[in-house]
Amino acid sequence: MENNFELLARLKKEKNAVILAHYYTDDSIQKIADYVGDSYFLSEKARDVKEDVIVMCGVSFMGESVKLLNPKKTVLLPDKEADCPMAHMATVEKIKEVREKYEDVAVVCYVNSTAELKAHSDVCVTSANALKIVKNISNKNIFFIPDKNLAHYISKKVPEKNFIFNDGCCYIHNSVTVDEVKNTKEKYPKAEILVHPECQKEIVEMGDYVGSTSGIIKYVSESMKDEFIICTEEGVLYELKEKNPHKKFYLPKKNFSCMDMKKITVEKIIKALETNEPQVYLENNIIDKAYKPLENMLIMAK
Ligand code: 13P
Ligand code: SF4
Repeated sequence: MENNFELLARLKKEKNAVILAHYYTDDSIQKIADYVGDSYFLSEKARDVKEDVIVMCGVSFMGESVKLLNPKKTVLLPDKEADCPMAHMATVEKIKEVREKYEDVAVVCYVNSTAELKAHSDVCVTSANALKIVKNISNKNIFFIPDKNLAHYISKKVPEKNFIFNDGCCYIHNSVTVDEVKNTKEKYPKAEILVHPECQKEIVEMGDYVGSTSGIIKYVSESMKDEFIICTEEGVLYELKEKNPHKKFYLPKKNFSCMDMKKITVEKIIKALETNEPQVYLENNIIDKAYKPLENMLIMAK
């Protein structure tokens, strides 16, 4: 009788499949994935992998991005209900309104957004490359969708641009409070505070370091310090501990967890590979329009 690990290995070989996973998925997924990373790394990998079938262990915007970059390949999202609420927190109507109002505007779309929103944007960004990309945009006005917190963080670093904000956010990162971080710091005074820019500006201001999930992992791995308060989703602890078994990590709150990312299970991956479903399907006209801003990101972030 094959165990899950052997079964996955066989299915991957039979289907010529590769498994990509985000750092917020459950530890069991990060253990079996071929590549684990942040949103930017996963976009690059999705563009470069040679396999015919790509299993994206993450939320639906990640599956859509993989499909946009590989329209002819089979892209499997093991749970089709795994969705990022923030990805829906902007509207095409508002984009059109802003484009009408401002002549010289770039619509900058955080990759945590639906393919439809991407299709109406000029360039995508992730938290790992947003600063570099926004700095290199020639337009004076930047309409940054959907995340107001990331937009705020970038706007402070690029004061020469005029930012138009959108009222979206990640309910998980946005829920971290100043008191929670302060209390954790009081308990562990030697710990450095590391913050994902999806957190509110007051939390970002408290950070000794602010960056994407992979930025946080890199910072810890290169640091001489031993203790860290991690202000991002708890899934990142798996890689942090793997790379830094002797360092200590504290979360500012209990259940700092993205329920949608945790919907992905090994059993669902196996079923997806066996049945070829659930697949990510996108209409051709969306693919045609939404590919360009994603490609622009990969070019500008280099
Ligand atoms: P990263 O791009 O830092 O991995 O973040 C993705 C995400 O969903 C944050 O909530
Ligand atoms: Fe979306 Fe927040 Fe989950 Fe990231 S952590 S996928 S932004 S809900």
